[in-house]
Amino acid sequence: MSLENPFFDPLRFERKMPECAVVIFGANGDLTKRKLLPALYRLAYERRLSPGFAVVGISRTPMSDDQFRDKMRESVEKFLEDSPFDADIWDEFARHLYYMAGDVADPECYTRLARCLEEVQEKAKTGGNVLFYLSTQPSQYSEATLGIGKAGLAKGSGWRRLVVEKPFGHDLDSARKLSDDLHQVFQESDVYRIDHYLGKETVQNILAFRFGNGIFEPLWDRRYVNHVQITAAESIGVEGRGAYYQEAGALRDMIQNHLLQVMATIAMEPSATFQPDSVRDERSKLLRSIRTMKPDEVLRNTVAGQYGPARIGGEELKGFRQEPGVSPDSQTDTYAAATFLVENWRWAGVPFYIRTGKHLPKRVSEIAIEFHSAPHTMFGAGDGGAAPNLLILRIQPEEGISLKFLSKRPGAGMTLRNVSMDFNYGSSFGERSPSAYETLLLDAITGDATLYTRQDMVEASWAAVEPVLQVWHQQKFDFPNYPAGSWGPSASDAMLAKRGHVWRKP
Ligand code: BG6
Repeated sequence: MSLENPFFDPLRFERKMPECAVVIFGANGDLTKRKLLPALYRLAYERRLSPGFAVVGISRTPMSDDQFRDKMRESVEKFLEDSPFDADIWDEFARHLYYMAGDVADPECYTRLARCLEEVQEKAKTGGNVLFYLSTQPSQYSEATLGIGKAGLAKGSGWRRLVVEKPFGHDLDSARKLSDDLHQVFQESDVYRIDHYLGKETVQNILAFRFGNGIFEPLWDRRYVNHVQITAAESIGVEGRGAYYQEAGALRDMIQNHLLQVMATIAMEPSATFQPDSVRDERSKLLRSIRTMKPDEVLRNTVAGQYGPARIGGEELKGFRQEPGVSPDSQTDTYAAATFLVENWRWAGVPFYIRTGKHLPKRVSEIAIEFHSAPHTMFGAGDGGAAPNLLILRIQPEEGISLKFLSKRPGAGMTLRNVSMDFNYGSSFGERSPSAYETLLLDAITGDATLYTRQDMVEASWAAVEPVLQVWHQQKFDFPNYPAGSWGPSASDAMLAKRGHVWRKP
């Protein structure tokens, strides 16, 4: 592809890795161990990082650089899901890891960090570029950012960027307040709000599928699409995160961020170029077109659920209220479903059903697009009946795409049956997909914000769920209303039945 081509963006396609130091606040936390370090190690393994690279971990626990390295080695070996661990590459990578004990609330922490960064820049030749990564308790995001600012660390000889983990606030007001605090130190273009769903290969592939092919886009509107179902089901419960989860709930934890971003990717208009802000402008426009529900619509168009105890295959599963850190009369939703409508010409009247839950029968995330049935069937009912065409984009596991359509059964007579045309990532590409964190860390280091959420997107998605949170807050739910291991409360089926639809059982 020629460099003169305006659609060719060297930023994304020919990445040159700049030198940099990645400063991780919350280096002793779960995210660092499970996701960040395995992703960075994997990038080192693939020689994707610049030789001038370093990680500076910060948390309160006193540790030497070597103790930190040993601890991280243990985590990387444990959580490196689908790649081999190479001890030689690790040793080389570990030399670039540094640690500093410090408390985010202590101003002295930042003056020490400044000194530490000077030393690291000298030793590791990181060129003055710094990526700050906030992986602390969300309540510390503002404090850490302001601390960075006061110590003069947000400016320097190279670029300075800030990566922030979700949640971005717990409602619209707190999300705005957080952005105001971040903007006291970093301008919006240097703030990278991470939504790991956008880094998943299969979510990125939605853009390739829709806009790289000519045949789907003409069908992608209210004239052909009957409704869309977006599911993110998890088979696990809250896994020791009861205290956090009790404050969040499924709607905040999954729908406000990940699943509305997925919906925006499915429903947005094509952007003119693949530049970060053109793509984000379209996502943002879509999120702002979601109909704001009135209180009576919330009652009709949303369902909250909470899992209760169950016995499955001889195993006793605890109910949410019995999980550690959860109050015995908790009103928190571990399941949430909603019908969203988009108020624009393309999607007027097409329901977007979104559901997510803990302790559902299996782990599966997918988008199912159901097209209108053929207007007239001349073949009689048959066993396929007039089944509508269905396009399924599978995000995980078994990543792929399937198109369901009717076909004639071999033999006499005209009997139709539903069949499937399938594409599987694994068999088609035969190579490993990078994890969402590998993709997103690389993007932040190269300064590509396409897959990061912007302030206006975050606010628009809070605006879409806030009326729901408000109504739910005033309600007293009769929880638990689904047993662990089932597909959620029956009210969720009833919500679709009102429009004549049925949830898929993926
Ligand atoms: C996180 C949520 O953002 O996403 C978790 O806080 C959830 O509760 C997780 O389990 C799901 O991510 P994935 O990539 O496993 O689908």
